[in-house]
Amino acid sequence: MNRVRRDTLLGVATLASLPLSNHGSAKTSALAPTPADSEGPFYPAAWTGDVDGDLIVVNGKRYDAGVSLLLLGRILDVRAAPIIDANVEIWQVDATGVYRHPRDDGDGPLKRGFQGFGRTASDTKGGYRFRTIKPVNYGGRPAHVHFKVEAKGYRTLTTQMYFAGENQERSNWGSFSQERDRLTVKTESLRDPSVGAQLSANFEIVLAKT
Ligand SMILES: [Fe+2]
Repeated sequence: MNRVRRDTLLGVATLASLPLSNHGSAKTSALAPTPADSEGPFYPAAWTGDVDGDLIVVNGKRYDAGVSLLLLGRILDVRAAPIIDANVEIWQVDATGVYRHPRDDGDGPLKRGFQGFGRTASDTKGGYRFRTIKPVNYGGRPAHVHFKVEAKGYRTLTTQMYFAGENQERSNWGSFSQERDRLTVKTESLRDPSVGAQLSANFEIVLAKT
């Protein structure tokens, strides 16, 4: 991905979509830190091999199951300044609803061509991007992507991202609230065929200082 296109894509992110910690006040520009959510049992067991930000191309071969998704956003501090070189990790189920993890389907997703997890670093504008698939729901849980974000001088954030219209638990073991809405994104159709994804989603992440 060349720099020009990357910047163009990141340009769709708007501060207008960011929640303010003090609704209705024009005087404050402070953003509320993104809420944490459970890590769950399937944090990647080993970051080895192909662990880049493109989860749908493994060894040069494209995974064609599921609905492809360009997932991007920025890592910001509470003053909306970009956090550069944050380590951004995601992990999620494949199109059959299983994780690439020894406690779930092992290397099954990878054998079927899906990377299962990936990581990248935020750029000079705080931007990050992944190409993946929209995860399916499983086990009573709505579709979600797990995130872990680390940056020097900031509290490490472990959370999950959900999809608008399908962010409520069907079982009663998950906690949800207004915070869940803060973790929910809308997807949009991507018209630029060069991106190679059917949908895009923008998930802005705000970190608190340590
Ligand atoms: Fe999960």
